[in-house]
Amino acid sequence: MSAAPGREPEQLYGSSGSSRSSGPYVTLSSVVAAAISLLILTGCGAREERQAMLAYQQEPYGTTGDGAPVQLYTLSNANGVRVAITNYGGIVTRLLVPDRDGNLGDVVLGYDSLSDYLTASPYFGAIVGRHGNRIAKGRFTLDGVEYRLATNDGANHLHGGLKGFDKVVWDAEPYRAEDEVGLRLSYVSEDGEEGYPGRLAVTVTYALTNSDELRIEYRAETDKPTAVNLTHHSYFNLAGHASGDILGHELMINADQFTPVDEGLIPTGELRDVTGTPLDFRSATAIGARIDEDDEQLRFGGGYDHNWVLNDYDGSLRLVARGHEPTSGRVMEVSTMEPGMQFYSGNFLDGSNVGKGGAPYQHRAGFCLETQHFPDSPNHPEFPSTVLRPGEVYESTTIYRFFVR
Ligand code: BGC
Repeated sequence: MSAAPGREPEQLYGSSGSSRSSGPYVTLSSVVAAAISLLILTGCGAREERQAMLAYQQEPYGTTGDGAPVQLYTLSNANGVRVAITNYGGIVTRLLVPDRDGNLGDVVLGYDSLSDYLTASPYFGAIVGRHGNRIAKGRFTLDGVEYRLATNDGANHLHGGLKGFDKVVWDAEPYRAEDEVGLRLSYVSEDGEEGYPGRLAVTVTYALTNSDELRIEYRAETDKPTAVNLTHHSYFNLAGHASGDILGHELMINADQFTPVDEGLIPTGELRDVTGTPLDFRSATAIGARIDEDDEQLRFGGGYDHNWVLNDYDGSLRLVARGHEPTSGRVMEVSTMEPGMQFYSGNFLDGSNVGKGGAPYQHRAGFCLETQHFPDSPNHPEFPSTVLRPGEVYESTTIYRFFVR
């Protein structure tokens, strides 16, 4: 417990007041020293209290079609922020963060029960892998060998295929550490799974910190050369998951370029300057301000569904994006080590996914900021490489940080 602030000075100075002839002998420096140690003690107490408030809970969340039991883990921090994550697909099912009046709101789209995730989910809240986004025609060549992947997006491979990392049961281990509580998920993707070469051992750690960050750490190792590009697919709505469209959110993306796509949303290979296009988000702009402009790229995406080439890529963590929802005051900042980020404005949502509390998620009810290497990288040697070889370790961190303004 922290000391009662009002009483401490009295004890320091003594009941008879400060005097050199009677009572405790007090010098200015001893008062200062005592005050400093009090501050430190109070600080420590508060810190210990905040540490003690970090908690996790585990509850059964149903079984998959194969009868595998699945759990739901709820992590909470000292500010009341809570995140619920299931080890089915590593899906974030709920994320409760305060608005500017301190009211908690659930800022991610999702379902109430596992059965809905098993039936039809457009990757709500999931871990995406082995290779995020599209690989053209589900094919790529590595070291002279052509690999054919499962195709699940017309002729293309999307988000790891028919049964990607969003649809598998991960081993899960919750933990508490200094200033954070977390969930360590691990999964071994066998050689040949969805057509990918190499047995890939993957760990994804979700951490909720006392600074209101949701940090995601990805790690993978392979026994044969393969391609890896992991990301996270929460659909955010900072006004609350059931509050309508996200067009009023202001978004900043620190990127001078993007990767233009063809009609099938496959990158052409060009890196195009955002200047003068509706994809210029270097200054915060409402998502809805230009989304329906007559622009070929927006037509192909049905809105925003593009990869931004993030500035200052050198493999270290840096701030790349900020979303702000003016009515709630909630702000989300994204930092990542990745070179790219897919900003998807929920264009394929059409009300047919009925989410938590019966909310039908209409067109553009949520937006995704998927940090990643560029889509179709295995077919673009000019893009930063997604190849992982035996003996190398794939490591990447992304942080979503929440606060109000
Ligand atoms: C893709 C969209 C896709 C969506 C699936 C996004 O990452 O960019 O094109 O439709 O995921 O829900």
